[in-house]
Amino acid sequence: MKILITGGAGFIGSHLTDRLLAEGHSVVVYDNLSLGRLDNIEEAQKNPNFSFIEGDILDKEKFFAVFENNKFDIVFHMAANSDIARSHANPDVDFDNTLRTTYNTLLAMKEFGVKKIVFASTSAIYGETLEKVAETYGPLFPASHYGASKLASEAYISSFCENYGIQAWITRFPNVVGERSTHGVIRDFIKKLKKTPERLEVLGNGMQYKPYLYVKDLVEAILYVWKNTNDKINFYNLGVDSRTRVKEIAQMVIEEMGLNAKIEYTGGDRGWVGDVPEFNYNLDKIHKLGWEAKNTSNEAVRKAIRYILEIDKCNL
Ligand SMILES: NC(=O)c1ccc[n+]([C@@H]2O[C@H](COP(=O)([O-])OP(=O)(O)OC[C@H]3O[C@@H](n4cnc5c(N)ncnc54)[C@H](O)[C@@H]3O)[C@@H](O)[C@H]2O)c1
Repeated sequence: MKILITGGAGFIGSHLTDRLLAEGHSVVVYDNLSLGRLDNIEEAQKNPNFSFIEGDILDKEKFFAVFENNKFDIVFHMAANSDIARSHANPDVDFDNTLRTTYNTLLAMKEFGVKKIVFASTSAIYGETLEKVAETYGPLFPASHYGASKLASEAYISSFCENYGIQAWITRFPNVVGERSTHGVIRDFIKKLKKTPERLEVLGNGMQYKPYLYVKDLVEAILYVWKNTNDKINFYNLGVDSRTRVKEIAQMVIEEMGLNAKIEYTGGDRGWVGDVPEFNYNLDKIHKLGWEAKNTSNEAVRKAIRYILEIDKCNL
């Protein structure tokens, strides 16, 4: 198949790129490198079935030309603003990079007759709840502009499916960790400890409790859903049953760095406005379909810490 991956130079998109190339597909990555990095696609660049186009999805002319010049069978739409805290100060960041990027992708698909989309959605659409949320949970009141933009993206995907005969796979990720991450709590802790090895400031009270999914498990799950479901709109929570507290992550990072740092909590139950302190997925639907994560949440966190410390030092 000829596949477009938006945001394919980012953390998750680059793993997806490698995996789809390994399956023999032809992959075009379109990314503005605002958050992604060229070294994430260094291996892919060696593959003759791969091409990279640097560009912004908001630049409609350039983006549409990519559709005009290629006959895509499917789009994996991974591009978004992935820095949730950043858009608190400026809501435009998510309106543009999370919602409008989806809308422009759908417009291009309509214009050039591409009929399939796999979408990177998120647990952030569910907002703050102590319930173990299944796909049918609602009503939905996201706590962040990011969650709101992803929920609105799902809504537009639905209306484009209905109006223009598009088929969609909406996959809702939890926190994802692992090789090539571009952001997130583990990276933040390592950066802080490199600066001040004797102390680590942790936002909130450290009790935040969420599932962390290993990126390679996530990619397996996305492809598993795509290959094994065939409704007009297929929608799945992707995740892992176990969870990790932020204070456990802090301890693991300190331990892996061989330090004796004192942890200082800023207090309050969350890291920032729009953060959801606790989250838990009901994964019955994806388990029934036949997929389960291989790594627990703690194993995923540990792998991610080791990768950043051993391999990815230069990008800190
Ligand atoms: N990492 C997670 O924990 C997580 C959790 C839930 C959902 N997601 C979703 O998964 C997808 C991938 O996330 P990620 O963690 O790999 O983030 P990432 O920031 O590493 O990747 C996103 C990519 O999109 C690109 N991009 C952003 N705006 C763009 C624009 N206007 N035009 C072109 N390219 C643009 C960035 O440069 C980046 O390479 C995103 O849609 C994200 O919302 C991620």
